[in-house]
Amino acid sequence: MTIKPLIILPDPLLRQVSTPIERVDAELLTLVDDMLETMYDAPGIGLAAVQIGTPRRLLVVDVAREGEDKSPQVFINPVILTSSEERSVYEEGCLSIPEYYAEVERPATVTIQHIGRDGKEHIVEADGLLATCLQHEIDHLNGVLFIDHISRLKREMVIKKFTKAAGKPKAV
Ligand code: NI
Repeated sequence: MTIKPLIILPDPLLRQVSTPIERVDAELLTLVDDMLETMYDAPGIGLAAVQIGTPRRLLVVDVAREGEDKSPQVFINPVILTSSEERSVYEEGCLSIPEYYAEVERPATVTIQHIGRDGKEHIVEADGLLATCLQHEIDHLNGVLFIDHISRLKREMVIKKFTKAAGKPKAV
């Protein structure tokens, strides 16, 4: 397992739509292990493959609390089947936007279809922090960031700050 460098805002790769995964093979499972290693090292509770420079439809999460056993979950080609009317608000952060946090409102419960690391199709119903985390990560697969869910003014400030830090001209 290898800890990979994280892709940071405003890297245009974060805006790319990730491509579906064709098969679960040894190469893919190595990528999964690298993602878990990178997520735990950061530390974070979720990571999409694009965040380590591989725009494929794959994400890992672990919402176990501190002191609890690790509980890694792998979602390949995840699709949101249903979203609840009920909403919940969490303060979100992102390993690609370090040290910035903001409250985001999302559906409180989602049903997600995906392929597991066993190569089989699964359907899970998620609520609480897991529901928010999975929606955040699935957004990454579509080139969407959590700052897209906050006010335009706040978003532009964050992008400006990270663009300045990266020493690059602002993308248009
Ligand atoms: Ni993120």
